This record gives sequence, structure tokens and C-alpha cells, in this order.
Amino acid sequence: MPNGYPFRVKASSTESFRFGLYSPLSQGLATFGLVSCQRCKPFLLTASPPSVPGLIMNTEKQNMRRVVFNQKGGVGKSTIACNLAAINATEGRKTLVIDLDVQGNSSHYLLGDKVADPDATIAYFFKAVLSLNPFGKSEDEGLGSVIHETPFPNLYVIPSHPELEPLQGRLESRYKIYKLREVLDTLEGFESIYIDTPPVLNFYSRSALIAAHRCLIPFDCDAFSREALYTLLNVVAEMKADHNNGLAVEGIVVNQFQGRANLPQQLVRELEESGLPVLQTRLSSSVKVRESHSYSKPLIYLEPGHKISEEFRALHRELSGLDTTE
Ligand SMILES: Nc1ncnc2c1ncn2[C@@H]1O[C@H](COP(=O)(O)OP(=O)(O)OP(=O)(O)O)[C@@H](O)[C@H]1O
Ligand SMILES: [Mg+2]
Repeated sequence: MPNGYPFRVKASSTESFRFGLYSPLSQGLATFGLVSCQRCKPFLLTASPPSVPGLIMNTEKQNMRRVVFNQKGGVGKSTIACNLAAINATEGRKTLVIDLDVQGNSSHYLLGDKVADPDATIAYFFKAVLSLNPFGKSEDEGLGSVIHETPFPNLYVIPSHPELEPLQGRLESRYKIYKLREVLDTLEGFESIYIDTPPVLNFYSRSALIAAHRCLIPFDCDAFSREALYTLLNVVAEMKADHNNGLAVEGIVVNQFQGRANLPQQLVRELEESGLPVLQTRLSSSVKVRESHSYSKPLIYLEPGHKISEEFRALHRELSGLDTTE
């Protein structure tokens, strides 16, 4: 389909359509989040030629990179990044989690004790970018020395470190915002990369949004979070327009959903009715999530048969479906 080709999107669960222009640069459609729909997955492109790929195209990336981002704290970013990565790894894909949050929750979740030596963490990479590494190692060495094997097959992590905090100002003032993308473009051997971000739009979350192909947005069914979602989607749209044409919003992940309570149902319905790309899978609230954090064991290892583990599997399947060419 040539650039600027007009398309029409139909959500099969509703009678809503959206018109726009196709843009190959954006790895998909020139607009997002504007399609009136009730479900993300059933989109059909009805433009001709009929062999047009689905909403998100399989672009055969060297490594598919997802960022999990929301400026609101505690919505489930680390939980979702780590559990999706763990499931992905069980399917035989070599998978990497990059923890860009100084809190280091994903690092602790997947490795247990936090990594004490900053030169074994992502801080080493950013120091090398600034050529501040005391051991004279250079940026060219890439990420190899900071990738840690986890106890779980096919799953690796680049941990975070509190040293990220003081580095931030210098990275920002020296315009190093593209360095993460550059190094990940050259990283070989990983099929999938999940990037966990801090609850703030800072140098690291912006680097991640620039480096990623897909963005997942957790939503915790709170009225304040709903208002913040619109700001958040604008931020992502701006990052896409200014820095990363290849970024696509994969969807909003409804987390801690209480299906029997009226308010969460109403909040999610309103998001869907206003055309936001809400994913179909709901993650319920479960005490097992906290337990899995404290045991440093992703849910599919801690409680493989539990409802919440099945929900994470369903979310992973839903995202895999969005990834494929239809
Ligand atoms: N579905 C769930 N059921 C129960 N507890 C959950 C669920 N999802 C997340 N939690 C809990 O909520 C807390 C916050 O989750 P998490 O750390 O994943 O959020 P976050 O967005 O990464 O937070 P931060 O912004 O601080 O990095 C954790 O204690 C986690 O165990
Ligand atoms: Mg977190």
C-alpha cells in the first residue's frame, strides 16, 4: 500500500469506522486511538487492496521492543513487563527485560537481591555513553557485560541501579536520548525486549519510548488514572511524531479489575466508548501478584494454574495476535 493511501477501519464489534491515510513510516496507520471501537482486536482493514496487513503489522524486527509506560505510580508496569516477558520466554523466545526505573522493582522481581555493583547494571551503559566509566570501558562494548541470566529459562535482565539518578542531568544536557535505541538496534540474539520505566516522564522513560516499537499502558481502574490517560496518550503521540515514527500504541491494559464492582466496569466502558485502544484481556486483582514479587518468581512459575496466571497468558496471546500479519 503506498504512502498516503486512504484506508477505512472497521471495528467488527461496532458499526464504527475511521478514515485516514496510511503511512509506512509509522509502521501502520497514520492515526491511532481515534478509532471508535469496543475492542482492540477485532479491527479489520477494509481498504483495498485487500491484502493490507492488520492494525499493527509484523515488520520482522530484529528484536521486538515493548515499553510499558504510565506516569502514574503503582499501576502495574513492572508486574506486567516481567510477567509478559516470563511467559514469552517459556515459548522458546530469548527474552530480555530492561529495568530503567531507579526503584529497581523488575530487577528484584527477576533476580532476587538487587545488583549492588553499578557496573553490572544499565547505569554502566549510560556512564559509558558519557565516557565516565572509571575502568575505561567504552560504549562500543555494548550491553553484553550487563545482561544477567535469570533463574528462568530464556529470560534475561539488565538491572537498574540508583546511580541512574545522578547521571540523568548530564545525559540530558548532552543529548544522549537516542543512545538506548542505537545500542538496541545492534543487540543480537534476543527476539523480544520488554522495557520497564519509572513513573515519570524523565530521560529514561523518554529514551525507552524512542527505543521501542510498541507501547503498553497499564490502567488501574481509578478515576484519576483515567484523566491522566489522555495526557499520557498525547505524550506518546508527541514522542512518536518528534522522535520515533515506528512507535505504535499497542493498547491499554486494564489491571486490578474488579468485575463485580460498578465503578471499574463503568470506567473501562467509558474508555472504550471514547475510542481508546483498550485491550480485551482484564487482569484481576490477586494477592498472588504481591506474593510473586516477594518470592521473586513470575506468576507462571509461582502459580501456573491460577486465574491471574491464565489472564497473563491471555494477554500475551492477545498481543501476539496483534503482532501478526493478517
Ligand atoms: N493485578 C494485581 N493484583 C494485585 N496486586 C497487584 C496487581 N498488579 C500490581 N499489583 C501490586 O501493586 C503494586 C504496584 O505494582 P507494580 O510495581 O507492578 O506497579 P508499577 O506501575 O511498576 O509501580 P511504580 O510506578 O512504582 O514503578 C505492587 O505491590 C504489585 O504487587
Ligand atoms: Mg515499577
